[in-house]
Amino acid sequence: MSYKIREVSRQLEVPTSTIRYWEAVFSNVIRPERTEGGQRRYSVSDMQLFSKIKDLLYRENRSIAETKTILTVGQHASDANSLESRIILLTGGTGSFGRHFCKVMFENYHPAVIRIYSRDELKQHEMRQVYGDKHIRYFIGDVRDPDRLKRAMEGADVVVHAAALKQVPSCEYNPFEAVKTNIHGAENVIDAAIDTGVKKVVALSTDKAVNPVNLYGATKLCADKLFIQGNSYSGARGTRFCCVRYGNVIGSRGSVIPLFREQRKTGKITITDPRMSRFWITLDQAVELVVKALRHAQGGEIFVPKIPSMKIVDLAEAIAPGCDIEFTGIRPGEKIHEILITEEEGRNTVDYNDMYVIMPTHSWWERTNYNNGRSLPDGFVYRSDNNSEWLTVDDLRQFIFDSSASEEDPAARLLSTIHRLNEKVILNLLNAEEGYSDMNSVRYSHDQR
Ligand SMILES: NC(=O)c1ccc[n+]([C@@H]2O[C@H](COP(=O)([O-])OP(=O)(O)OC[C@H]3O[C@@H](n4cnc5c(N)ncnc54)[C@H](OP(=O)(O)O)[C@@H]3O)[C@@H](O)[C@H]2O)c1
Repeated sequence: MSYKIREVSRQLEVPTSTIRYWEAVFSNVIRPERTEGGQRRYSVSDMQLFSKIKDLLYRENRSIAETKTILTVGQHASDANSLESRIILLTGGTGSFGRHFCKVMFENYHPAVIRIYSRDELKQHEMRQVYGDKHIRYFIGDVRDPDRLKRAMEGADVVVHAAALKQVPSCEYNPFEAVKTNIHGAENVIDAAIDTGVKKVVALSTDKAVNPVNLYGATKLCADKLFIQGNSYSGARGTRFCCVRYGNVIGSRGSVIPLFREQRKTGKITITDPRMSRFWITLDQAVELVVKALRHAQGGEIFVPKIPSMKIVDLAEAIAPGCDIEFTGIRPGEKIHEILITEEEGRNTVDYNDMYVIMPTHSWWERTNYNNGRSLPDGFVYRSDNNSEWLTVDDLRQFIFDSSASEEDPAARLLSTIHRLNEKVILNLLNAEEGYSDMNSVRYSHDQR
């Protein structure tokens, strides 16, 4: 039995141009017969291979290089990007992200060991009570201390850099401290990683680093630039640096949700401006983004997830329905809307499955892993108020008052709601007919707003 290209395209719901592209890229495994007239005829095993390729690229978010390895050598050898049995150094490992990262790693990825690197022994002690110390080492250290960092990184395969001062008011009030931790700390992490031969480094960035209006954002922007350019310093040693950039993490330390939870008890919620909107991501998704970045990074990319936005007033209404809202006026260093991709960055960004990849402008850089990513339309800006994916009060209510929701606390229900809605966004994208068509509509609706 054999198939024409149109049949393959129809069955797999992938355009014929993509089938031709895959055939060229995976020519080591897919070699269709040709009719006398030169028409392709694919075998049943070709069809199975195409289906596997589609799964690996679209569902598992594998790169072309990885997919090739898996198809030729097998899943077990899907290359050095696997985290299994690796040594990971995690700066800021006792923070909201770090603790969740460890949980997900041990549940799903099985690294040999995670080295936590942070300053406060109490937080490490508390973490030890929960996570034990079989697969975790607790290093007391400051990212401002290059020697200690170097010692801690000895033998590590991967570094995830989460340590930061991240409170906007605190960074404004203590600017030298913010610079020392967020900028000098980043430089120390880069130097230590290169000197100790670490393979990949992912640094956590934030939407506040985009067109920054406060010192926190400005220090994170500098850090991003250092990590992107770090690739030029690593040379033959081959350490690869990249960043992930996302918006507010739901429920992280110091975020607005714990604040609204507290204020709910008083019957009054304070919000700075009624127009304010933000991007939202769950900790699970933040961790998965880092895993994807580790898997894909060639060096120099900024990975931006596709995540929904929400108006802060809607969030307040969902968490504390019926409470009075007092508008206190926009604070210094605060924006009404946040940006994840600027117009200038958009020119160098590809739409890649469930994320955008901002590519570096290094002369030596080639977009090998993103050949099947789509360029963005001219003028594309990814801002929290022009996002095509919104969490409205109705959305939230539908889930919050869903009788199947088990959590009693509205804030906890909200968390699972947002997680489910974020998953819905991603599923919509993955189930999109013809692979990318839905993503195109997402892109255009960004434009229309
Ligand atoms: N939370 C969000 O909404 C959000 C959004 C976008 C991006 N991010 C980024 O994600 C990263 C992690 O955020 P998070 O929410 O997990 O922050 P977090 O809960 O405040 O944790 C910060 C971690 O960094 C450590 N740390 C701070 N200064 C340090 C230093 N000088 N040397 C070593 N460790 C230090 C802290 O431990 P010690 O105090 O014990 O040192 C703690 O483990 C940050 O880079 C942040 O910019 C966060």
